[in-house]
Formats: sequence, structure tokens, C-alpha cells
Amino acid sequence: MIVGGALLAACGGAQKKEGGDDDGGVTANEDLMREHSGLRRILFIYQAAAPKGDDASVLACAKLVRRFVEDYHEHTEETYIFPRLETGTLQPLVATLRLQHQAGRRLTDQLLANPKDTKAIEEFIRMYQPHAAFEDTLVFPAWKKAVGKKAYAELGEQFEAEETKMLGKQGFEHVLAEIAQIEKNLGIADIGIYTP
Ligand SMILES: [Fe+2]
Ligand SMILES: [Fe+2]
Repeated sequence: MIVGGALLAACGGAQKKEGGDDDGGVTANEDLMREHSGLRRILFIYQAAAPKGDDASVLACAKLVRRFVEDYHEHTEETYIFPRLETGTLQPLVATLRLQHQAGRRLTDQLLANPKDTKAIEEFIRMYQPHAAFEDTLVFPAWKKAVGKKAYAELGEQFEAEETKMLGKQGFEHVLAEIAQIEKNLGIADIGIYTP
């Protein structure tokens, strides 16, 4: 990605972040929503791998879910996002989302122990589609409004730092590369397969 990096550098300072790392100026909510799309691609893999009995793909995804979705993304939600909304009208939704994080962990435990557990895969997919959609459309916008402009920008920086701490440098990019590799192995890398 030397060319991309050089191009971004040539584009000037507007998107440049402190510390020299350049992620293209991604804001906190954009970051969280991109992570959801990473999760959605994992759901597509689960959906394709389960009927094939492709244990390797299921296991690889379960490990990614543990590291990237549960220990990083959901940890961020529980630490920075949910507490700001637990005194308002979204409190019941946030309480359910917290419970679903716990349920997700249990399902991932089950899949790590037995990748042939298709019921766990079905339940995981069924829960996370609405979970992510409700966070994208209700929780993240409400949180952005609640924290205010200045804190929102600062927290964006903090999420970046956390991402590097939890997932390593260019952590999300590496996660996406892993997802792409599993898609390729499974024969679902070309989204043309979904065109009716
Ligand atoms: Fe969540
Ligand atoms: Fe989420």
C-alpha cells in the first residue's frame, strides 16, 4: 500500500492524524460502523461455511470474533458508548445489547469448542444482524449527540489508540485481510455470487 500511503501524504494535512498515523480521517462512528461491516462479512462466512461443514473457516471466524468483535469492538461500546446512554430513553435497548454481548460470547465459546455447532452459528447470525443495525441507527447517533462535538473528536482519537493497543498497528486492516482470505478459501470472495 505504498502508493496509497504516498497519495494520502500528498493530499496534505487535512486528514492527517496526530502521531503520524493516517487512517483517512475516520471518525468514531464511522470506525464503529466499519467494524460492524467487518462483522457482517464474518456472518456471511458463517452462513456459507456451516452447510459445507467447513470447520477451518468457522474456527478462524470464531477466533476473529473473540479478538476483534468481543474483546475489542464490544469492549469499546461497553466502556465508552453504553454508559453515556444508560440514563436516557435508550436505557432498555442498551441493557439488551449488553445481554447480547454476553450471549455472543457464549456462542463463540461453543463454536471454538465445536465448529460443527450449526445451531450456535444460526443463533449468532440471527442475533447480530439486528444488534449491529440497531447500534448503527439508534445507539451511535444518540451517543454522538450526547458527548458533543469536542469529546466526539477526542474519543475518535482514543478509539484509534485502543485499536492499536488491542489489535496491533493497522489492526483493522489486518482483520479485513484475514476476512478476505477466509472468503477466498471458501469461494465467496466475489460478491457477484449474490446477484440475482
Ligand atoms: Fe454491540
Ligand atoms: Fe457493535
